Amino acid sequence: MNAFCEGKVAVVTGAGGTLCSAIAIDLAQKGAKVVLIGRTREKLEKVAEEIGRADCPQSAAVRLEPGDVTDEKAMQEIADRVAAEWGPCRYLINGAGGNNVKAMPTRLRFSEADYAPTADFAKERGFWDIDLEAFKSVLEINTLGTVIPSRIFGLQMAKAGGGAILNFASMNTYRPLTRVAPYAMSKAAIANWTMFFAQYMAPAKVRVNAVAPGFMVNERSRQYLMTPDGGLSPRGEQVMHHTPAGRFGEAADLLGCVNWLLDDAQSSFVTGITVPVDGGFLASAGV
Ligand SMILES: NC(=O)c1ccc[n+]([C@@H]2O[C@H](COP(=O)([O-])OP(=O)(O)OC[C@H]3O[C@@H](n4cnc5c(N)ncnc54)[C@H](OP(=O)(O)O)[C@@H]3O)[C@@H](O)[C@H]2O)c1
Repeated sequence: MNAFCEGKVAVVTGAGGTLCSAIAIDLAQKGAKVVLIGRTREKLEKVAEEIGRADCPQSAAVRLEPGDVTDEKAMQEIADRVAAEWGPCRYLINGAGGNNVKAMPTRLRFSEADYAPTADFAKERGFWDIDLEAFKSVLEINTLGTVIPSRIFGLQMAKAGGGAILNFASMNTYRPLTRVAPYAMSKAAIANWTMFFAQYMAPAKVRVNAVAPGFMVNERSRQYLMTPDGGLSPRGEQVMHHTPAGRFGEAADLLGCVNWLLDDAQSSFVTGITVPVDGGFLASAGV
């Protein structure tokens, strides 16, 4: 039986990252023509090499399209190039996202030290010490970085008769974790945007859903979830205490949910939802 995406164009942003590299490889193994987007060409090259080594059907293909998802012009150019050479995008995985340490306080709650913000970044810093420009950049990448590709590739899907968009929410969508205010705000916005765009695009047969991964170690989160020797940091211990599955997730844990949400044959009546894939984190009160 042919896979749902065989011979179809799937655009994956954040494709050089931990989660979306695995999704891109999986889609290629199902015969999709995969477009890899991210800012760093070398990361995309590594994923393309892995796809080259993987057991993929003949219909599969891969192309690198380095670019910043918040740059509307760059995204439009990529979309035009892909459509001219490969045809319209039918699947969009909005995986690009991230955080910025300059927007992260180290102090968890208000204290009198907040009356005297410090410019010394190495010191303990509170909410008033964080950089507002960094705060805005986190909001931009995690919100407009999904909206812009969705507008551009969503229109291609509509013209082609339909498609599916998958966004990336987070555990922060439901309740903000300490230290990551702009990231949490923006991931809450993703669930809201997913509902908005799903209802708007329904007449065009474009479904829009999101996954909310639990804690899946990537290069960035390794620094605060783990110790240098591979053990758990105090924050990692707290997360694990709240994760009934008793482990961090892996990219492979997402694939079933991703494929379900992309595949019309399995989820044609499912749109506008955000699905947690979290080892029970949301279900756990931690006590
Ligand atoms: N891992 C988790 O536990 C977890 C949990 C919940 C939600 N998520 C979300 O899931 C998605 C994927 O996470 P991940 O763990 O795979 O993260 P990751 O390994 O850090 O990958 C994210 C990728 O996004 C790219 N990116 C960042 N800003 C970009 C921009 N402006 N334009 C284009 N590409 C950009 C980065 O590559 P360049 O720097 O080269 O551009 C990076 O390769 C993210 O939205 C993340 O917030 C992750």
